[in-house]
Amino acid sequence: MTDLSAIAFARPGRSLKGVVIAFAGDGMALGRQAAELEGIIRRAAKSTEFSGEALKTVDILAPENSGIDRLVVIGTGKSAGSAEQDWLRLGGVAMGALRRGTKATVLLESPDGKLAPGDAANFALGMALRSYAFAKYKPTRDGSGAKPPASVTLQVEDLAAAKAAWSRLQPIAEGVTLARDLVNEPANVLGPAEFANETLKLKQLGVTVEVLNETQMAKLGMRALLGVNQGATRPPRLVVMRWTGGKPKDAPLAFLGKGVVFDTGGISIKPAGNMENMKGDMAGAAAVTGLIRALAGRKAKVNAVGVIGLVENMVDGNSQRPGDIVTAMSGRTIEIVNTDAEGRLVLADVIHYTETRFKPKIIIDLATLTGAIIVALGQHHAGLFATDDELAEGLRIAGEATGERVWRMPLGSDYDKMIDSRFADVKNTGGRWAGSITAAQFLRRFVSNTPWAHLDIAGTAMESPQTDTNRSWGSGFGVRLLDRFVADRYET
Ligand code: BES
Ligand code: MN
Ligand code: ZN
Repeated sequence: MTDLSAIAFARPGRSLKGVVIAFAGDGMALGRQAAELEGIIRRAAKSTEFSGEALKTVDILAPENSGIDRLVVIGTGKSAGSAEQDWLRLGGVAMGALRRGTKATVLLESPDGKLAPGDAANFALGMALRSYAFAKYKPTRDGSGAKPPASVTLQVEDLAAAKAAWSRLQPIAEGVTLARDLVNEPANVLGPAEFANETLKLKQLGVTVEVLNETQMAKLGMRALLGVNQGATRPPRLVVMRWTGGKPKDAPLAFLGKGVVFDTGGISIKPAGNMENMKGDMAGAAAVTGLIRALAGRKAKVNAVGVIGLVENMVDGNSQRPGDIVTAMSGRTIEIVNTDAEGRLVLADVIHYTETRFKPKIIIDLATLTGAIIVALGQHHAGLFATDDELAEGLRIAGEATGERVWRMPLGSDYDKMIDSRFADVKNTGGRWAGSITAAQFLRRFVSNTPWAHLDIAGTAMESPQTDTNRSWGSGFGVRLLDRFVADRYET
């Protein structure tokens, strides 16, 4: 629920009113705009032992003879202006300092004098990301961050450049917001059809959206995907979103998402504790949708296709059973040994469909695939599996740049053997050990020879750590990572 129009840029120099945010660098260095409030800032800094440490703040209420209601000074520390994540976080801290409905002015400048237009835009992005709150079902009582201010004016010297830089980042904020909204929404409200309807809104941005229903999927032979939805009363959907910003004939980049709107585990039912988190088991599909929105919104010069499989994994008299054998679209037979290993079944058909239909340059899938990846990496890196070193390296670099970090995990024939089945071509789990790797090996069997990467985002996409730029349960992980990856690798 981020109102991005509340964030605007202006030139410095208007008389200051309302809430003002200024910056102080290491050793209390002040920029040109902040220097006009120097007396107030230095007095307050002294009494609070503040000397411009990064991300520390000093809050000064009703400073004397200033005409402003409140002055917040934020430390930029030593490395101001060097890393984009510094300005992103500073934006988050600034937004965190503002109460609902306030009008604020930010004296956006670096105390060391160097503020690149990109820094200003990153600051705005940090503000936008921090202001997000999923307050739809408790709009007034939410103390956890539902406080978009009435308006924030960012005063910058180079107005035109800052605006231009922000116009490129604003669609990314919109993409992250969309992904977060989708992940946070409960499954009773967001079923496969409702999710598919949300994707149709991307048509306004020039995205081609196709929605396949159950009959069409059955005709294509997607029995791995359909088996997962067999116990559900709501029908599944497959959505194809195409953004053509490159040459029309160029092969697209393909982004695939696991979209299990709720995962009970099926007959291999999950324990009750924390099962409510499984409303977020469509975070891969949400990230893909947010990414396509970001790419279309900033008119990325690239062809991209997003394909998401939307199902729910329910318990019912008609649910699939352990021991069942299904034939995937690729023709491979799969022995279902655990109905809770359902995401890979969905992706098996999504991968084969996408690869054969679009012949993409690369395939990247995102999925909240395994609890084991949380055990391995916690919440601070997504698991990365790849058949192609260059692809893996590109994702690693994009992860470091955006802070949506990935850590590469191994693939190999020893792990692959673990999913050989006595009765079918493959079984859907490989036992207790190396659970994230055997899941990836399973997916790999459905990729023929397109360079492929798989991101296991079970630890990074939901129940997210509260950071300077995220107070949402669903983080929107993957949108910024992949937007950057596309920009760096395919648009330069
Ligand atoms: N959606 C879960 C994985 C998950 C767990 C995501 C926790 C987010 C938080 C997935 O479908 C699943 O149930 N995986 C099983 C696989 C097992 C049965 C081989 C798991 O991780 O336990
Ligand atoms: Mn599951
Ligand atoms: Zn799942």
